[in-house]
Formats: sequence, structure tokens, C-alpha cells
Amino acid sequence: MNKTSMILDVDTGVDDAYAVLFAALHPAINLLGITCVDGNTHVDQVVANTLKVLDAAQAGDIPVARGATRPLLGPSQYAEYVHGADGMGDLGIAPSTRQVDPRSAIELLRDLIEGSKDLVTLVPIAPLTNIAIFLRAFPETAKKIHRIVLMGGSTSAGNATPVAEFNVWHDPEAAAIVFSSGVPITMYGLDVFMRPGISSQEASVLKSSSEPSAQFAGQLIEAFIERLHISPLTLGDYGAVVAAIYPELFTTQMFDVVVDTSSGPARGQTICDRRDDFLKDLEPLGLENPAKVRVVMDLDVEAVRQLWLKTIDKGWS
Ligand code: BDR
Ligand code: CA
Repeated sequence: MNKTSMILDVDTGVDDAYAVLFAALHPAINLLGITCVDGNTHVDQVVANTLKVLDAAQAGDIPVARGATRPLLGPSQYAEYVHGADGMGDLGIAPSTRQVDPRSAIELLRDLIEGSKDLVTLVPIAPLTNIAIFLRAFPETAKKIHRIVLMGGSTSAGNATPVAEFNVWHDPEAAAIVFSSGVPITMYGLDVFMRPGISSQEASVLKSSSEPSAQFAGQLIEAFIERLHISPLTLGDYGAVVAAIYPELFTTQMFDVVVDTSSGPARGQTICDRRDDFLKDLEPLGLENPAKVRVVMDLDVEAVRQLWLKTIDKGWS
């Protein structure tokens, strides 16, 4: 099996946890490391949560580094109203004894990418602060990135604001740097984010599994369904990880995209030029200096769901 060498950038985060579990357990992924960023909650809490998820996955020694403590320009704006006071469902899980890597997130990114014999796929599922700083600090190393498959943005509605998705809205300047970097980008955004979900019945089957990864995931999903009164509950960020390894399960379209960094009501919007070609030919005005971004517009929901369930719980049938 051809393995994809991957680095995750996370703000764990309930749905980040589903993504980390999958990336640590799936045999087609060589998870080189994880970098943490301020986002859903404070970066120190993100680190603590991520280490706990690696425990649940019974993962080997995967380096986890602490990154940016706040966005490039604006203030931190946490999403604890969604993810809980500890950013990961307030399940009361004991702290991990794993050690955080002594390097900063951007140093770890540099060392892992430089040291990898294969090109590396970056999967940021959080605000893009670490990735923007890394691209600016180490542009030569950045050339060795195969591509970035990120969770963020939307071609339609937002969630943090009517038009902006949380990860981009939390640090629009960082997102603008990443989108315009020239590294090939696939955007797994809100157009599809909510679609693959797990029901409360499935969560309770996971909880009763003999595998710690499944027990943990089932507990997390169940707690969330209770809190948010939504079933099925989206697997969220996990979708970006699958899009990086099984692109055949996803339908994408190329769009010109610009990130709005103004201070107006559209701040954090990923403005996508979705006009028909005939209209683009007719009208002379396009977006100024757009990035060419591959955007996920559809997916095989059942295949994506089953892949997660069977990876998290080997006995799933
Ligand atoms: C994104 O924001 C976070 O709350 C989720 O973890 C996801 O990365 C969705 O907008
Ligand atoms: Ca996230």
C-alpha cells in the first residue's frame, strides 16, 4: 500500500479528535507529526487534548508541537460554546503522560518536511496561523510540500458569521497568506463539512467496542449529541484527511478564491468566483489576484462514513 506522508495542524477540538484518531490509525497514512494552534481553545489546551487523543489511538511516538498562541493580527476568539470548556467535550479524561515536542510548531514542520524522503501533504484543520508563519519563515522548505488539503472556508454560507467559516475567520490574514502561497490547495469547506455524520445509535455501538479508540470516539460523539441536540453528528474535520488520501471519493471544482481581510461584515469570507464561464467572458471584472483553489463540492457520504467507522473500530460491520 502506498502511504501518504502527512502532517496535521490542529486546534483539538471535538472533530479534530475524529481526524487525529483516523490519521493515527489508518494504514495508508504515515503520520509524521502534529502541530497545534490557538483556535477552538487556547493552544496549551489544544496540546493537552491532542496528546489525549493519541493515547486513545494507542499511537506510537508521534511528535506534537505547540504553535501560535493567537492569530497574526486579531484577538483569540474561542469556540468553547461548541467544543466545551476544555475544547474537547469536557469528558474528564486524565491528562496524558506523553511529552510535548520541545520544538515550536514551525520548527517541527521544517524538520519533518526536510527529513522526509517523500513529499509531505499538510492537512490543516484549524486556523492557518502556524502554516502562514511557516511558509514565510521557511520558503525553501515549503517548496517540498506536495499539497495542502485544508478544512476551512465556504463557497456559500459561513458558520462563525453569515459568510465566514470559523478557521478562516479566526485568522483571515494567515488564510490569505496560505491561499496565495502558490502551494496547491484543496479546500474542504462548509459546502460539505456537515454531511458525513454519526448517529447516536452508532455512537453507542462504538462505546461498547473492546477497542479504546472506538470507546473514546463513541463517548465523545454521544456527549456531543446530548449537548448540541444534533444527530447524526458531523465528523467535520476528518473529511479533509480522507480527501487527502482518497480523492476519488470527492467531487471538486477549481475556483478563483480571495480571502476577505477587510474589517467589514465579510471579514474572513472565502470569496469564490462561481460565475458561469460565459458570464466571466462577458464581464471584465474578476477577483483581484485570486488563488486557484480546488474546492470540494460533493462526496460519497456513505463511503466516507464507513471508512472512518472501520478504521476507528476494527470490528465494525
Ligand atoms: C471548523 O472550526 C472548528 O470549530 C472545527 O474544529 C472545524 O475545524 C469548522 O468551522
Ligand atoms: Ca478544527
